[in-house]
Amino acid sequence: MQRKPPSVIAIYPGSFDPITNGHLDLIQRGSRMFDRLIVAILRNDSKKPLFSVKERMDMLHEVVHPYPNVEVDSFDGLLVDHAAARQAAVLLRGIRAISDYEYELQMALMNRRLRPEIETVFMMANEAYSFISSRLVKEVFSLGGNISGLVPPTVEARMHRRMSKNKRKGAR
Ligand code: PNS
Repeated sequence: MQRKPPSVIAIYPGSFDPITNGHLDLIQRGSRMFDRLIVAILRNDSKKPLFSVKERMDMLHEVVHPYPNVEVDSFDGLLVDHAAARQAAVLLRGIRAISDYEYELQMALMNRRLRPEIETVFMMANEAYSFISSRLVKEVFSLGGNISGLVPPTVEARMHRRMSKNKRKGAR
């Protein structure tokens, strides 16, 4: 049995396309639990993202700066290999509802099989944010719905800018 390392580094992985207030709540709470928290954006995502990895990194930097023990990075390949390279002992994931559980359990068990020394820690989403997902935020926004309070204000502003840019492109 390995002893607890003197300082615990956790990785909070995801697509963050875009970061929502649910993600931000988990980052805040994670930053209090762990000595260091690395928010890691998956680079080789098969889903076609709305924002580039660079834009998502910028958005994350804008919202995590109040937390000095939180950093942002990105990764390719296996999450557990990235965690090992960053000396992280913990993978942090949020669970919103029972529907998240099956997928999260599968990933946690596969990650444990790949690298048993790395633990997945789940945190229950704050009930105020348990219905928010990046996918729904994008859908509601693209159909003209109000997304304020669902994403940080800087992210909302970027989404509006992206929408007007796309409209200008479409008009040409
Ligand atoms: O925000 P998401 O899309 O739910 O995050 C999913 C993520 C990035 C955690 C997952 O797709 C992942 O870890 N991808 C990296 C590739 C990998 O390690 N696959 C095996 C996971 S069991």
